[in-house]
Amino acid sequence: MSESALPMPTDFGDREYQVAMVNVTNVCNLKCSHCFIFREGNPNSPRDKMDDATMLHQLRVLRDRHRIKYMYFMGGEPMIRRDLVFEGMKLFEHCQIVTNGTYGIPSVPGHVVTVSLDGPEEMNDRIRGDGVFGKVREAVFARQRDDGTDVILQMVVTRQNQDGLEDFFAEARDWPIEGVAVSPYVPRRDDRSGLDWPSLAERDQVIHRLIALKEKYPDLMKANAGALRLMLSETAMDFTGSDGENCPIKGNTLTLYVGDDGTFQQTYCCYGNDVDCARCGSYLLFNSAYHRLTKGGGVASRAAARMA
Ligand SMILES: C[S@@+](CC[C@H](N)C(=O)[O-])C[C@H]1O[C@@H](n2cnc3c(N)ncnc32)[C@H](O)[C@@H]1O
Ligand code: SF4
Ligand code: SF4
Repeated sequence: MSESALPMPTDFGDREYQVAMVNVTNVCNLKCSHCFIFREGNPNSPRDKMDDATMLHQLRVLRDRHRIKYMYFMGGEPMIRRDLVFEGMKLFEHCQIVTNGTYGIPSVPGHVVTVSLDGPEEMNDRIRGDGVFGKVREAVFARQRDDGTDVILQMVVTRQNQDGLEDFFAEARDWPIEGVAVSPYVPRRDDRSGLDWPSLAERDQVIHRLIALKEKYPDLMKANAGALRLMLSETAMDFTGSDGENCPIKGNTLTLYVGDDGTFQQTYCCYGNDVDCARCGSYLLFNSAYHRLTKGGGVASRAAARMA
């Protein structure tokens, strides 16, 4: 089919979004206990309803319409549609693949690959499934270190795995990676998972430990101490609000989920539709707020600075 015959993307207006994320598939081979994607009320039907040609065409149109510079390729598990991701990456200046690492670590020189692991082996496997840690470690060690790809591990910290933070860093410092990112859990409203902290004040002890880890591993840990400090209970709500009204990333990131009708849909924010902003731990959010306060760089360079 010629490109002009392919359906046009949903009309999201014509404003600029320098940063966007696309869930290239709602299919995933894992069932992580903390995952926001599969919460009720999100566009997450596991059948892929947008074929490769249509998705590439629509991403190109949206890139031009919204002047998108930085694209996150997510899912589901994006590497299930590996060829589509590689083609999609040719459309954007800066790209990041966020993957569970079980399909290997893609080599994408000049771009970032974030590999999710949620703590040391036993803890990670309780969250991500038996054998996942070993499989991902093997894939990370099999990568070619000097291929020009920035490979970052990402741990989502919850009440369930918080005790493993220090051990995780002690292990990761010997891995062939460019760093470790940490982001506290984003709970849903009325969260009954037991993964959340009942209040921000109860989360503070973890934030203090993250700040201490940044002091101990200044190069390994991909976080700004200043951004981490904003997460403390005395200031966090200034950057989230009870309903996202203070959030610097809500409304500034184009979130592309594929809905049941096979069209792109935007969700409340990149963490889906059911979120408790008042207790949100998104590092991206606090880092973006920190850069606004310190007036550093444009949005795209701040997205890149998430890795700095
Ligand atoms: C939704 S996953 C999609 C990409 C891929 N399947 C993976 O696991 O990396 C993207 C990232 O969101 C994180 N994530 C999932 N649920 C979360 C939550 N409730 N709060 C914060 N981060 C979460 C995952 O751990 C992962 O690092
Ligand atoms: S691998 Fe990623 S998308 Fe799949 S369940 Fe885990 S966090 Fe969610
Ligand atoms: S849940 Fe989403 S909108 Fe709410 S504060 Fe966090 S990133 Fe912002």
